[in-house]
Amino acid sequence: MRPLDPAALLAELTLEEKTSLLSGSGFWHTRAIDRLGIPSIMVSDGPHGLRKQPGPGDHVGSGESVPATCFPPAAALGSSFDADLVRRVGAAIGAEARAQGVAVVLGPGINIKRTPLCGRNFEYLSEDPLVSGVLGAALVAGIQSQGVGASLKHFAANNQETDRLRVSAVVDERTLREIYLAGFERVVRTAAPWTVMCSYNRINGVYASQDRWLLTEVLRDEWGFDGLVVSDWGAVDDPVAAVAAGLDLEMPSSQGAGPRRILEAVESGASSAAVVDLATERVLRLVGRALADNGPAGAPDDAGHHALAREVAGQCVVLLKNDGDLLPLAPGLGHVAVVGEFARSPRFQGAGSSKVTPTRVDDALRTLLARLGDGVQVDFAAGFGVDDPEADDAALLAGAVEAATGAEVVLAFLGLPASFESEGFDREHMDLPSQQLRVLDAVRAVNDRVVVVLANGSVVATAEWEDRADAILEGWLGGQAGGAAIVDVLVGDVNPSGRLAETIPLRLSDTPAFANFPGADSQVVYGERIFVGYRHYDLVDRPVSFPFGHGLSYTTFGYTELQVSVVDGSDASVDWRGAERMRVSVRVTNTGDRAGKEVVQLYVAALDTAPPRPVRELRGFEKVALDPGASVEVSFVLCDRDLSRWSTRAHGWVLDPGSFEVAVGASSRDIRLATTVAVEAPRTALPLDRSSTFGEWLDHPVGHDMLIEALRTGPGGDLTPLLADAETVKMLSSFPLTRLATMMGDAMGDALVDRLLGRLAARQSPDA
Ligand code: BGC
Repeated sequence: MRPLDPAALLAELTLEEKTSLLSGSGFWHTRAIDRLGIPSIMVSDGPHGLRKQPGPGDHVGSGESVPATCFPPAAALGSSFDADLVRRVGAAIGAEARAQGVAVVLGPGINIKRTPLCGRNFEYLSEDPLVSGVLGAALVAGIQSQGVGASLKHFAANNQETDRLRVSAVVDERTLREIYLAGFERVVRTAAPWTVMCSYNRINGVYASQDRWLLTEVLRDEWGFDGLVVSDWGAVDDPVAAVAAGLDLEMPSSQGAGPRRILEAVESGASSAAVVDLATERVLRLVGRALADNGPAGAPDDAGHHALAREVAGQCVVLLKNDGDLLPLAPGLGHVAVVGEFARSPRFQGAGSSKVTPTRVDDALRTLLARLGDGVQVDFAAGFGVDDPEADDAALLAGAVEAATGAEVVLAFLGLPASFESEGFDREHMDLPSQQLRVLDAVRAVNDRVVVVLANGSVVATAEWEDRADAILEGWLGGQAGGAAIVDVLVGDVNPSGRLAETIPLRLSDTPAFANFPGADSQVVYGERIFVGYRHYDLVDRPVSFPFGHGLSYTTFGYTELQVSVVDGSDASVDWRGAERMRVSVRVTNTGDRAGKEVVQLYVAALDTAPPRPVRELRGFEKVALDPGASVEVSFVLCDRDLSRWSTRAHGWVLDPGSFEVAVGASSRDIRLATTVAVEAPRTALPLDRSSTFGEWLDHPVGHDMLIEALRTGPGGDLTPLLADAETVKMLSSFPLTRLATMMGDAMGDALVDRLLGRLAARQSPDA
């Protein structure tokens, strides 16, 4: 096909044609302009498998879609902590999209899990922006390696489903930058997605779809995004404001309404033709990218992708507890009870726009029967129904007790029914259905070797019942091969290596956003600020059921030789993260008797940053595979950004020189080795203005000397002896200089401040 030349086409398109390109055609296509040979391209959900709808479209997951491999949803993928694995998933989804003629896959979704109650947490990766960013970038890279675009979503601060089309997330600048935007920034800068999808909600009062600061200043000007911004489906409130803010494509089609309003605005002079040109050119560029010669599309490899889905699901399973090494199941078992409808009817994905029609589905029960062979008695009892999750069924319960009685081990498959979590609404609690817990109680009463296998897309509280399980496997929603993958782990064919990308708290009232979720009157205040997930539990020193990063293995790992070398930082930037500051290495050894994988986690704390500050933040992770007795050195590079915080005053990243704790471990609460190092860096000069305080002037590299000089030579004589008294300095520090006139008379006050600011400006001007 002839390459598409956006610049040339722009010159030929009429204004009406241009505006028509800024809204979709139907549900899943861009508009074609036949006159100029501009074809339409197709986009499809979604993040964990292709949801291509050949017929009429819908974005609530009700309509038909062509069969595609259903990979583990993001909640599971996040637990893999394995970027290479996630990239392979992306590549497989990309290949299926290409084979189906889909140009852009609408994912990944990388919103932060602000609360366990978000109904869509199963579609998101983590409570931590590094995990979300690294794995999100891997998905994008994988999808795009197939010549298919990704759509990074939902940009931004879309952390709940309640009132999602209107709610305003009230978030301070630091929290946005460090938590809610950080993952997006990493993906944009490192994986260059073809498109970014703006979210439905408002941020600090402004719809994401018409937020110029977000879509243009931050996304494009700062992060260098060069792709297209598409709206979430129906997210555009005011199409004229949206295109002016940097939104390029409204989806789905607004049946001509959006283009008409934009056209009228340009014709009346209310909007500029230039913004329409810019957006049109970006639409054309996207179409051009999709049409470019991306190599031949291979036939879909259903069997290969199913095998990959099984491998991946196995890498995402988290072994939460394993008392007495009950798992893996001992060879030679003669009698196993399998309890729980989910063993037979697996719940493997969530509801809504991401729902895939799988090519096939593996259930744990049949896989287990096949794997254990005829010599083993396997008694199955459904125990409970999943259609009416709270209804007790005495006969089902009795069946579970009967199956469990006399078995050498009980495998209880529990989890959330589909109606408990979905796109479109949030959860009301974090509990398993009480009916399932009654089944657990009943089987426990007759059998003291119980393994619980969980199927859920968002965390469930375990505190109430975990003492009734010797072992717990968190299988998440494992995709179409999740049932088989669970068996791989149960029998030890796969050694579990998933780690929690989300804390499991003791109870809902412990969670960071508890007092501020889901907000009211279309407003939700992010009052917990940067203290999301483990950052909160660690700050308030609260016990949790299972901490962020936790996950057991059938083997054990030892950590030795933590080495941190501080680099002087004067070298040029390594990449977007700035100059290199530290090199960290640690030796990890498989100290057990089985091959296994460890997720080595690097946490950093800035000890000289003003409190409240995070106790530790994940700044690196690496999954390593080790045979028994083998060891490997794992190393990390930390740059300016990894040690910095966002300063609202400076509107930028600031590195506080001083001490940093560098720690490595197997979870956020299983730190194995730690050390403290000093990092020297020039203190960032915060801008001084008329409201700056005595303390801020003293801290300023240039302002400091000017202030001292003024104090020394003031009309009332030398005031610098005051500075000898630390208490006085501390007390004065919070006073704006202008207000010190009340205490120090003419030596301070407006005239002095104006003079100092003038001199400062002169010193800092480029000609000075
Ligand atoms: C969802 C998006 C999805 C779109 C298209 C929206 O409701 O929020 O994630 O990509 O529909 O189905």
